[in-house]
Amino acid sequence: MNQYYSIQGGRRLEGTVTISGAKNAAVAIIPAAVLAGECCILENLPAIQDVQTLKHILSRIGAQVDFTRGDCMRVDPTAIRTVDATFPEVSAMRASYYLLGAMLGAYGEVELALPGGCVIGPRPIDQHIKGLRALGANVYIDESRNVVRAQASKLHGAEIFFDLVSVGATINLMLAACKAEGQTVLQNVAKEPHVVDVANFLNMMGASIKGAGTDVIRIQGRKKLHGCSYAVIPDQIETGTYMIAAAATRGDVIIKNVIPTHMEAITAKLLESGAQIVEGDDGREFYLRVKMDGRPRGVNIKTAVYPGFPTDLQQPMMAYLTTAGSNSVVVENIFENRFNHVKELRKMGASISVSKRTARIRGVESLRGADIHATDLRAGAALIVAGLSASGETKVRGIEYIDRGYEHLEHKFNALGASITRIEEE
Ligand code: EPZ
Repeated sequence: MNQYYSIQGGRRLEGTVTISGAKNAAVAIIPAAVLAGECCILENLPAIQDVQTLKHILSRIGAQVDFTRGDCMRVDPTAIRTVDATFPEVSAMRASYYLLGAMLGAYGEVELALPGGCVIGPRPIDQHIKGLRALGANVYIDESRNVVRAQASKLHGAEIFFDLVSVGATINLMLAACKAEGQTVLQNVAKEPHVVDVANFLNMMGASIKGAGTDVIRIQGRKKLHGCSYAVIPDQIETGTYMIAAAATRGDVIIKNVIPTHMEAITAKLLESGAQIVEGDDGREFYLRVKMDGRPRGVNIKTAVYPGFPTDLQQPMMAYLTTAGSNSVVVENIFENRFNHVKELRKMGASISVSKRTARIRGVESLRGADIHATDLRAGAALIVAGLSASGETKVRGIEYIDRGYEHLEHKFNALGASITRIEEE
């Protein structure tokens, strides 16, 4: 049974939306829980497919994983009975690669199906492997079986300078190094909010990680960690998606449960385009109010590692800029092939030309509804933004990608006045 979204576009978004826990933190924190050797309680998890997939993966290797309420998961790794994670669910998602660092740290051994995930260009894991080898692990890829195997009789601290800034490699090395003997120094690391969140979680488990959020992370290995309770931070990318959708529909939306400092690159570009943005604190949580009247001005975007403009919002931002009153240039510096949404936006009347990593957008008056296909998670978010602002009906197919990373998307948008219906077809 296929599902698609039918969006009746052209409705101004108004009201309040609450942001869920961060996907890219949650998908690292769940595997990281095996390092505790005891029970962990994880709160504020988003209700998304990637979280469900990780629950299945951990359960399948023997962990006891239960939801104690909608956003709260109890992970008990004590009954894990195998280090063999070579089954299909593992290769269905990218973040399963965090089992490499986590299982190696916890059990000294792991065999893992090579990770899949969104098709947005080549996504090697050479920096993960280089780092784990520096800690003393034997790591080899068996291409015939599409499996990576890592084993270490003992992990020891090391100095590792990453060749490039990688979120996944930074987190994977933190996971393994917090159980290595001695000090590990990671240089040229990612500073994304979810990197800091994972470090905070590991520290709650008794790890000693200093410097997360800067270019250098120092980890003092510990023989034993322990269970803890931890609440995941709000999702930076979900927040940005609602900010952009508010502006794209010329709306007025209050976005609650956010961390405004995580949003500065997006706030700056939306302000430059003519949106009004107010940061506030209602006494319980921070919020952002995004209001837009009339057509935006075109702006130029270059994606960069944090605190730069995130690649994960490049696609929704481009959908917004298609109807700007002047031209925009978008440069994608992180992934080689993250413009799959462009041909779909063109079907809606957008005028975009692409050369290598640069997209030039000539703003048009408005988009019109079309039958379009999401090819990855954030392409899906871009098509939702486009459909919400377009005239008439837009059918967005490939919504299984969107389900991987956005909690209750149609319910949240419909509560803001949108009209999005999930339709099942034979
Ligand atoms: C994470 O992917 C996120 N995924 C991505 O989110 C996000 O787009 C990306 O970071 C950048 O912020 C998760 O957290 C699960 P990288 P990751 O390693 O870790 C190259 C979404 O939509 N590279 O920081 O895979 C790589 O090819 C997703 O939520 C190597 O060459 O990204 C890319 O060009 C999609 N060798 C660049 O580095 C390596 O060993 C950055 O990748 C590792 C990475």
